[in-house]
Amino acid sequence: MPSVSFIPVAALHLSLIGALQGYKWTYSGPDGEHHWSKHYPYCGGAFQSPIDIKSELLRFDPTLRPIEVQNYNLSPDEQLTLGNNGHALQISLPSKMHISSLRYRYSAAQLHFHWGSSSRIAGSEHMVNSKQYAAEMHVVHYNSDKYPNISSAVDKSDGLAVLGVLIEVGEFNPTFEQFLRFINGIKYRDQKVQVPGFNIRALLPARLDEYYRYDGSLTTPPCYPSVLWTVFRNTMTVSQKQFNALATALYSSSAQESATIPLHSNYRKAQLVDSRIVLASFKEGRGLHGTLTVTSPHTRKQIIQQLLVGDLADLADEELYKLLPTGSQKLQAGRRKNLKNLERDDQTKPKQQMTSPSLRRKSSCFVGKLGLAGDTLRYSSLEQRVFHQLKESHRKNQLVEALRDAVYPELNLKSYMDCKSHLALPTVRQILCGRPTDEALELERSLTKAWMNQRETSVANKQKSHVTKYGSISKPPSQGYPHPWLLPMEWED
Ligand SMILES: *[C@@H]1O[C@H](CO)[C@@H](O)[C@H](O)[C@H]1NC(C)=O
Ligand SMILES: [Zn+2]
Repeated sequence: MPSVSFIPVAALHLSLIGALQGYKWTYSGPDGEHHWSKHYPYCGGAFQSPIDIKSELLRFDPTLRPIEVQNYNLSPDEQLTLGNNGHALQISLPSKMHISSLRYRYSAAQLHFHWGSSSRIAGSEHMVNSKQYAAEMHVVHYNSDKYPNISSAVDKSDGLAVLGVLIEVGEFNPTFEQFLRFINGIKYRDQKVQVPGFNIRALLPARLDEYYRYDGSLTTPPCYPSVLWTVFRNTMTVSQKQFNALATALYSSSAQESATIPLHSNYRKAQLVDSRIVLASFKEGRGLHGTLTVTSPHTRKQIIQQLLVGDLADLADEELYKLLPTGSQKLQAGRRKNLKNLERDDQTKPKQQMTSPSLRRKSSCFVGKLGLAGDTLRYSSLEQRVFHQLKESHRKNQLVEALRDAVYPELNLKSYMDCKSHLALPTVRQILCGRPTDEALELERSLTKAWMNQRETSVANKQKSHVTKYGSISKPPSQGYPHPWLLPMEWED
């Protein structure tokens, strides 16, 4: 790492250059995954992949459409580059191949494999309920609506979308032979061969409508947290013989090196889930977990709005209670003491507590300090952990600050709004302290809209509905007030 004694932005920039120049990294030994973050700070940061997709993390999301891919059936006339990069077997893909069912067009760049060894078959990166599969294929796509090429997309929060396919040892896979046919030509690191195109779709499972979705990262250095992950529920198979061929054919050393190092077990271990959740496009059918649904982004926006203006009174609303990160204590055990206090307080203290004037502060930062649970409520979730992790491996505070300011807030808030993570309220509040005005305005518009709807409903139901607003219901009409929620709280009384 070059010495970092510049302003934060320069420090961040330098670290990215360092990452792109490429420090040596491996899957084991002194350059193994536990040391990646020395040269690649993102590897020690938030939103890392892979993860163990456990049932209790799942939320069924009925809005997740089946994955649709275009131009995956390549003609043999098209030449692809198959190579051994020392870390994996990889094949280049033309950008006309793309995913068409996401918010942006994501164009293909390459696909590669992670696998176990002939003595220990398990080598997938993602696990499902702690089961590790034999291997895993990643089809890497970049957001070609927003970025001109993969290099400029790779470090952007909406830059990449990767399709992950878990691989089991079972039936012979004829399409997989397209790799094995040429594998002896690329035994050593940095070797490449040109191979004819084939039907890449045949490498995906038949059903593209059942998948897990979460926000994560590259699973190799520089570990940018830029990947929208889709891991298919259904697996593909290769035969035992095919698996062994893959697991024994390649070296991670180059042809020039005297010592040959076999290339296998090239998977990263499961990373901390932190405050993330995993969306499922399907209902699991077994147990209760698959039936939980996420709170709508709309409702989340509302709560963010209230945090922005420091009006926590509406948190007393039953609906908004659901946003408190309940159910995650188990996962966050030992780290959520403050939050537990918060939840307990919310639920047991008289509702009037929620409208205490001390909470009606204009500044969300103030609210954070005064807090629902008093002084014990602090900035206690994801960012703080990330901050500490980075601090340990990087004495240079400026770099840490730059990462924190430049990357995590955007990712976290976006993720929270899209229902992809369960951030603790103190964290959301903290993030909001540093938001630019234009985003605050965008949030404001949505709240204004939400509030208008709510008001119509509440006027209509005025007499019969049970009161959930505890004194904050009588907001003024918005006519003449372009930004009603920016007004002083006193008008409520
Ligand atoms: C990718 O796009 C950026 C921005 O237009 C450009 O500066 C860069 O040279 C491109 N990189 C490659 C590898 O084409
Ligand atoms: Zn991969």
